[in-house]
Amino acid sequence: MTRTIDLRDRIGEEVELRGWLLSRQDRGKVVFLALRDGSGVAQLVCERAKIDAALFARLGSLPLETPLTARGRVAAAPSRQGETGAARPELHVESLDLGVSAQDYPIGRKEHGPDFLMEQRHLWIRAPREAAILRVRSSLEFACTDFLHREGFVRFDAPLMTPTACEGTTELFELDYFGKSAYLSQSGQLYSEAGIAALERVYSFGPCFRAEKSNTRRHLTEFWGVEPEMAYVDAEANMAFQERFIRAILARVAEERADDLVSLGRDPEDLSFDERPFPIVLYDEALAMLAKLGRSVARGEDLSVEDEEALTGRFDSPFFIYKYPVKCRAFYIEPDPARPELALSSDCLMHGGFGEIITGGQRASDHDFLASRIAEYGLRLEDFGWYLDLRKYGSVVHSGFGMGIERMLRWICGLHHIREAIPFARTPLRFAP
Ligand code: 4AD
Ligand code: MG
Repeated sequence: MTRTIDLRDRIGEEVELRGWLLSRQDRGKVVFLALRDGSGVAQLVCERAKIDAALFARLGSLPLETPLTARGRVAAAPSRQGETGAARPELHVESLDLGVSAQDYPIGRKEHGPDFLMEQRHLWIRAPREAAILRVRSSLEFACTDFLHREGFVRFDAPLMTPTACEGTTELFELDYFGKSAYLSQSGQLYSEAGIAALERVYSFGPCFRAEKSNTRRHLTEFWGVEPEMAYVDAEANMAFQERFIRAILARVAEERADDLVSLGRDPEDLSFDERPFPIVLYDEALAMLAKLGRSVARGEDLSVEDEEALTGRFDSPFFIYKYPVKCRAFYIEPDPARPELALSSDCLMHGGFGEIITGGQRASDHDFLASRIAEYGLRLEDFGWYLDLRKYGSVVHSGFGMGIERMLRWICGLHHIREAIPFARTPLRFAP
C-alpha cells in the first residue's frame, strides 16, 4: 500500500492507493477522481477504454466520501498553465474497488459558514485544509516534547481535577467530587513546581480549562498547554530558554510539514528568524511605544489585546514584554527586588498582529511573601499548604512558562480563528460535537 504523499518518488511504478473520494470531474471519456488519504490528495485518472464498463458508468455520479482502493501506474501529470515547481504525480487507474457512502454528504464545494462547519466538525476535519492543520499540530506537539526530552526534562503529568485555582478564581469550571467542590485545572504549573525539587527540569503537557466567556479568535475554554518548569533558573534565563524552545520547535515543524504549510498559504521560511536575540521590551518601554502609537495605557494597568496587537507591528520576530506590574499578574510571581511593584514575569508575543503565545516568569521563593500573596488574592491558605511546603523545604530560584498549543498553531498556520487549531474546539458557545 502506498500513501499519496509518497507518489512523487514512485513515478512509473505500479502502486495501490486507499482513501476516500474528495471530488470528481466527468469529462466523458475520462473521469478524474480526487482521492484523499491521511497524508494528502492524489488525482486518479480513470479512462473509459481501460476500466470495466459497468464500473466506469458509475464514476460520474459516485457519492463524495466513497471509500476507494485504486491500483495503477504513477505518472507525472502534465503541468497546468502557469504552474511552476515539481510535477504533480497522478495515478492512471487499472482497477478500482468502491466502498459505499450515502449520496448527501453535507459539505460540498460551495462556501459554508463557520457555524455550519463547526456543527459538522466531525466531517469537516476531512477537508484537505483541516487535515493539513491537524498534521501540523501533531508535529508541533511532537517537536515540543522531543525538544524538552532532549534538554533533559522529565514529563510530569499534572492532575486535571484540582482542589485549587492557579490562574485566578473567576475562570474555574467547578465539578462535584463526591460531594466536595473540585475544579478543572487551569494550568499544571503549581504541580510542576513540586516536580522540580525532585527532578530539576519537568514539564506538563495536557488540557487546561478556562471558564472564560471570551468569544474571541484566540480563546478556547479547553486548550492544550505545554508548561516547562526549571530549578535554578531565573526570569532572564527563562526567556533565553523560551527563545531556544521557539526556534527549535518552529524549525522542526517547518522541516516536517513544509508541504502542508505551503498548502495553507504559509512559507516555511517564515518560521525561522535571523540570529538576533528576540527583543525584550520592558513594560514601561511598551507603554512609551504605545503612547507613540496613540494608545494610552495608565501605568500599572494591564495591556489589552488591542494594545498587544498594536505592539506586534513594531517587530519582525517574536519578542518579550517583561516586568509587568505585580497587580496584573498571578499570585505566585517573584517581585523585582529593585522595584517590588514590578514582577519578574514576561509574556512572549508573536509579531505580525498576533500577540501572546507564552506567559512565564520567576516564581516567588520566599515562604512568608508567598503566604501573604495567597491571602491578598482571597485564596484559602489551607488549600495551599502543600504549595507553601515547597518554599519551606529546600526553596530555590525557579522559573517556568506555559505555551498554548493552539495559539502557536494559529500563528504557524496563519489561521483567522483558533477554533481550527484543535480537532474539536470548546468555546463559550459550543461544546459539541
Ligand atoms: O498566560 P497563562 O494563563 O499562564 C499560565 O497559565 C501560567 N501558569 C503558565 C506557566 O507559567 N506555566 O496561560 C499560558 C498560555 C498563554 O500564553 C496562551 O498561549 C495559552 O496558555 N492560553 C490560552 N489558549 C487558548 N485559550 C485560552 N483561553 C488560553 N488561556 C491561555
Ligand atoms: Mg498570559
